[in-house]
Amino acid sequence: MRRRLPDLAGVDLVLVGAPTRMARVNRRAKRVLKKLKKRGFLGGKVAVFDTYGPIPKTPEELKKGRKWLYPGAAGILHETAVDLGLNVHPNTMRFEVSGMKGPLGDNEIGKVAAFAAELIAG
Ligand SMILES: Cc1cc2nc3c(=O)[nH]c(=O)nc-3n(C[C@H](O)[C@H](O)[C@H](O)COP(=O)(O)O)c2cc1C
Repeated sequence: MRRRLPDLAGVDLVLVGAPTRMARVNRRAKRVLKKLKKRGFLGGKVAVFDTYGPIPKTPEELKKGRKWLYPGAAGILHETAVDLGLNVHPNTMRFEVSGMKGPLGDNEIGKVAAFAAELIAG
């Protein structure tokens, strides 16, 4: 589905997020960043986030599974935003799921307030 971006007049910050799947990000999320560039959203700030996981519990499993987790959708979106020359917040926000199909892990939502504070401060 292709959706137009809303009117960006007066918008200071756009958050773009997507789930990490097969170590990748979906095309639509990347397209949003490209549209922001096309619209000249260069004065406003962009921040990116993803959902990912679950992170394996043992060091051995983690070593094997690393490439599926990192950089993840958030890392890819961040790199894309940097390459496009968008004013992207240096840190990404990642929310871990507790199972392959969710839900979010305990306390993951609790990270939002800290990230929001960071975005407002920066
Ligand atoms: C088919 C499939 C592939 C997935 N691949 C990955 C992956 O490579 N890396 C990862 O960290 N999580 C992976 N996950 C977990 C998803 O990141 C997680 O389910 C998703 O972020 C939850 O958000 P959603 O409900 O919006 O899909 C996968 C999940 C599914 C169902």
